[in-house]
Amino acid sequence: MTEPSTRWWQTATVYQIYPRSFADSNGDGIGDIPGIISKLDYLARLGIGVIWLSPVFASPMDDNGYDISDYQAIAPEFGTLADFDRLIAEARARGIGILLDLVVNHTSDEHRWFVDARVSRASRYRDYYVWRDPAADGGPPTDLQSTFGGPAWTLDPATGQYYLHQFSRRQPDLNWENPELRAAIYQMMNWWLDRGIAGFRMDVINLIAKDVDRGITADGPKLHDYIQEMSRASFGNSEALTVGESWTATPEGALLYSGRDRHELSMVFQFEHVMAQWHETWGKWQPKPFDLVRLKSVLSRWQYALADDGWNSLFWGNHDLPRAVSKYGDDGRYRVQSAKMLAIALHFLKGTPYVYQGEELGMTNVPFTAMSQFRDIETLNMHRLHRDAGLPEADFIAGANANGRDNARTPMQWTAGPEAGFTTGTPWIEVNPNHVAINAEAALADENSVFATYRKLIALRRQLPVMVHGRYEAHLEDHQQVMAYSRVLPDARINVIANFSANTVTVTIPPAMRGAGTALVGNGAPVTTLGEELQLAPYQAFAVLVVMGAD
Ligand code: GLC
Ligand code: CA
Repeated sequence: MTEPSTRWWQTATVYQIYPRSFADSNGDGIGDIPGIISKLDYLARLGIGVIWLSPVFASPMDDNGYDISDYQAIAPEFGTLADFDRLIAEARARGIGILLDLVVNHTSDEHRWFVDARVSRASRYRDYYVWRDPAADGGPPTDLQSTFGGPAWTLDPATGQYYLHQFSRRQPDLNWENPELRAAIYQMMNWWLDRGIAGFRMDVINLIAKDVDRGITADGPKLHDYIQEMSRASFGNSEALTVGESWTATPEGALLYSGRDRHELSMVFQFEHVMAQWHETWGKWQPKPFDLVRLKSVLSRWQYALADDGWNSLFWGNHDLPRAVSKYGDDGRYRVQSAKMLAIALHFLKGTPYVYQGEELGMTNVPFTAMSQFRDIETLNMHRLHRDAGLPEADFIAGANANGRDNARTPMQWTAGPEAGFTTGTPWIEVNPNHVAINAEAALADENSVFATYRKLIALRRQLPVMVHGRYEAHLEDHQQVMAYSRVLPDARINVIANFSANTVTVTIPPAMRGAGTALVGNGAPVTTLGEELQLAPYQAFAVLVVMGAD
């Protein structure tokens, strides 16, 4: 077997920063680029190779920057273009690349294209957006609903037509059918690539190609043509890391995006493992009890489907999702143990891992008690719908605390001091009160911290080819508490076992995993040898390296 060639982003770990909540340098309560620069040494110590920066572009912040009014300007609250250039240079000096968030399914309604487009049906930029005549009764052209609640069409009275917005009414969808629009986007991408960025995370990329008249709003027939065109016109011949967000991606579909001969993206973010934990009808607002067998089966399916071609992204959390330890672990008594367990269970899978800010500290969901504490537009819109439907407010708050997007957006916890050291002013969203115990300062002083486990895992990925290229092999697939798998190359094997429960569990070790090796990482006493049976402590997890022919 020939050694597969390695791309730089296959051995790197990506760290996502939500700029508004990361570090505030000037006391206005909003995180900013100089704040990020001041924390680069912390990130270098963690060992990450890439920062995915959620949007920092000019924006009215209706959706915290996912509504862009100028793709080539930095929002003043985040800093200046000079700050951004300094971030690139300072990060590069530490071996870290910057990934920009490319939000091109829609713009802000304050983007100059949309401002012009809505002036008249004959406007220069009219066709950059999706307009339709009202239905016969004057209502919306179709009954399509927006992701944030309410109709996906809004009437623009001046010109008498409705425009499409799959998110808020202040995020009009772009019309990718228009070749001039596509060229403008590619040009803008090149402008950033020339500034030295390492690549793009592509917001809801599955939505850009649509055929609304046929009810198609995702994965339209021209989607892959557009992505291939984009690749040819911009990053195609570079080493850029490109990752597309797709809530509709299937393993088969992921091969179309990330297959070797497709010339599209490095990888996609898929959400099947996230949605596997949602209620069939009520989605994330009505969570279901945690089901490990279901979760493992989704992850395994992706591992097997992309075994020889394509590439996986690996993540538990992001700025739209609840905190990993609260969702998949135990954020009470076993917080530290389960946060480490989740890190170990995920990082040995085949793919590129993404760490969401604060995950490396085991940060938790936030227990809000009043609607006035929430900030997220999706949560606020959904609350209005629930209230209008007469549903009890307490139920809604419980759902939002379990799965709402603000959980990930409370400020990064740097210290035990006021406002967790995030700001000297008043933060735009409340700091989690548990920062007195859970913070970076404490983690760095403790060699057994969650941070230390992440640091170890990130370093191992750079050292061990079997962690990057090894064949995935699932074990104990029907076990309700334990996840077990191996990664295998001809000369080495990694065996990973993780107890996802608060119980002591005795497992029968599958024959393929038995034998002696060396302990790579764990959250308990080092395990080097696997016999027929093993007793696991609550949330215990570890990985053993077996070198073939070395006994
Ligand atoms: C993506 C982003 C989310 C945003 C939405 C609209 O899902 O991750 O934060 O609200 O797209 O841009
Ligand atoms: Ca600030």
